[in-house]
Amino acid sequence: MNDFKERLNELYKLIEHHAKLYYDDDAPEISDFEYDALVKELKELEQAHPDLARKDFLTHKVGGQVSELFAKVQHETPMLSLDNVFNNQELENFFARIERDKNFTCEMKIDGLAVSLVYEDGIFVKGATRGNGQTGEDVTANLKLIESVPKKLNNAPAGRLEVRGEVLMTLERFRAVNQVREERGENPFANPRNAAAGTLRQSEKNNHVITERGLDIFLYYIVDAQKFGITKQSDALKWLAALGLPVQTAWEFCETLSDAENFISKWQTQREKLNYVTDGAVIKLDDLTQWQEIGATSHAPRWAVAFKYPPEEVKTKILEIQISVGRTGVLTPVAVLEPVRLGGTQVQRAGLHNADEIARKDIRVGDVVKVRKAAEIIPEVVEVDKSARTGEEKIFTMPERCPACNSLIIKIPGEVAHRCINRASCPAQLKESLKYFASRDGMNIKGLGNTLAASLIKAGKIKNIGDIYKLKIEDWIGLEWTKLNKDDKIIIRKVQRKMAESIMSELENSKSRPFVNLITALGIREVGKNAAGLLVEHFGNVDAMINATEEEISSIEGIGPVIARSVFEFFQMKENLDLINQFREMGFQMGGAVVVHENRFDGKIFVFTGTLSSMTREEAGEKVKNFGGKVSNAISKKTSYLVAGDKTGSKLIKAEKLGVKILSEQEFLNMIKF
Ligand code: IVH
Repeated sequence: MNDFKERLNELYKLIEHHAKLYYDDDAPEISDFEYDALVKELKELEQAHPDLARKDFLTHKVGGQVSELFAKVQHETPMLSLDNVFNNQELENFFARIERDKNFTCEMKIDGLAVSLVYEDGIFVKGATRGNGQTGEDVTANLKLIESVPKKLNNAPAGRLEVRGEVLMTLERFRAVNQVREERGENPFANPRNAAAGTLRQSEKNNHVITERGLDIFLYYIVDAQKFGITKQSDALKWLAALGLPVQTAWEFCETLSDAENFISKWQTQREKLNYVTDGAVIKLDDLTQWQEIGATSHAPRWAVAFKYPPEEVKTKILEIQISVGRTGVLTPVAVLEPVRLGGTQVQRAGLHNADEIARKDIRVGDVVKVRKAAEIIPEVVEVDKSARTGEEKIFTMPERCPACNSLIIKIPGEVAHRCINRASCPAQLKESLKYFASRDGMNIKGLGNTLAASLIKAGKIKNIGDIYKLKIEDWIGLEWTKLNKDDKIIIRKVQRKMAESIMSELENSKSRPFVNLITALGIREVGKNAAGLLVEHFGNVDAMINATEEEISSIEGIGPVIARSVFEFFQMKENLDLINQFREMGFQMGGAVVVHENRFDGKIFVFTGTLSSMTREEAGEKVKNFGGKVSNAISKKTSYLVAGDKTGSKLIKAEKLGVKILSEQEFLNMIKF
């Protein structure tokens, strides 16, 4: 019993941890496959011990998120999911009960973000995400920025037409986008699906990234297709294409289930040639009248099923194990592989996570190993082919000294990571810290990316981050930096005077960035921009942070004990206090009562009515203004939101009449959260 309990608690912690890495940080450490396995194990344990289950845990919440950044859209016809099968037997069982001729339309399953588009008389009028299937987010404005979403259809039917499909990022765009992110010191997206979702669900202020990054769409479903005289799914796809809506070419009409099985196996290998990620095939009955007859369960249709392909795996050899040193000194082993094709690309490196993982899988240099693409892009070693061992393989041990600075490596008890302890002057840590410092959520110093940071350090120009503010124009000239050309290809350049001047002025400007950016930029372990926002909001200035006890820090809502410890320790270290004083002398912002994160309310007009329970109306108004919005006293057509407190009256009636969106206090609070 206790074992169960222990494992259950462990699973809650693990899943919470990995969900945060995946959803909030765009930096998963394990593959989707492994994450699914943890969730599956959790569900099984919960079923066996319902009394111990945490009913409010994230795995019990259905479907995707519905963010307060967007207005909600109620789907007139729910957006369902699909049941999965994993082999031909399961596929045959799925369709066994339908006693009729079975024709199928087989399509590839696009790994993107499901959306619904509404056209009125051929004009695109509304688009929404799937959300939880019943309620999605209104992303009309953002969808309009996708080039392949037609704003007007060819020879469209009169009246309302609702079509559904998948927004995606092509592999080509995905690689380019990640290249740029890495150069800028931002976390790369884990996979194209994450990238597409993160890009589409942008606030109005930031929606330029949709055009910059480039999204695409494929449609595959017409709501009430029969209304348009369509009776087959295969005809629906042709009809969509004729209207000018993008439809993938990877689909076929299959007369029998065995033809469908051939489609599945043919595309299992062909799919690597596609320019977008697919994670299975969707087998649909072709006859739409049958769809209506056999219907759906609450979450998935009975007329279609997804055949999920197992992650592709190939064998190759480990030539070497290299070590990279991260911003906080953590050593990450990376396997250098004999190049091999996997999932459409040439693979030469695989992440090995940490020493424990290498020991657990008994991975040795020279081993033949099976590798697979984890979260789509970063390959990982699945297992060693021990039968291929010759005796020449070398057992790997973590180095005792840092490969970048030769300092001692330590392993803190209870942690899996090995770390270089030379926080103050390890060039590898300094480079990563500098990139982070200069990144957008930090001091946002444009031009100071990966290459220039490396070049600065290699040339011995700086010993700590603060030193970049002491450099003169001449120090920058001649260093290497990279530029992206029009095709997002990286070109290496030497810094010329003009570029040096521009960096100097960027540095000067960075001194007046909001206090929260400085706290983020310091790179305190566990503290990203969200936690930095909470700290700034609570303490208001740097001295209050420096003098805070660990208890006070951990009493802040949203700051757990791990973050609190890390913040406390950071401000105990002399080198960090010296750096802060250096910034203080240079005139950086050392406080700020309220946090300006972004102008998320740019152009939005708020009206408040009734009494709010968590703050005064003045305070609420301040929040709106801090996010770039305006506050007005009267409702008009221009009002974006009416926030209704407990007592409400004529304003509410007027807002309803004018179709102004009405928010509860809680909805408003969600919008002003970090
Ligand atoms: S048909 C009633 N066809 O996969 C649901 N779905 O895992 C009809 N998907 O929610 C869905 N490619 O977002 C269909 N060719 C395709 C698809 C596809 C991707 C998505 C869709 C669905 C999810 C289920």
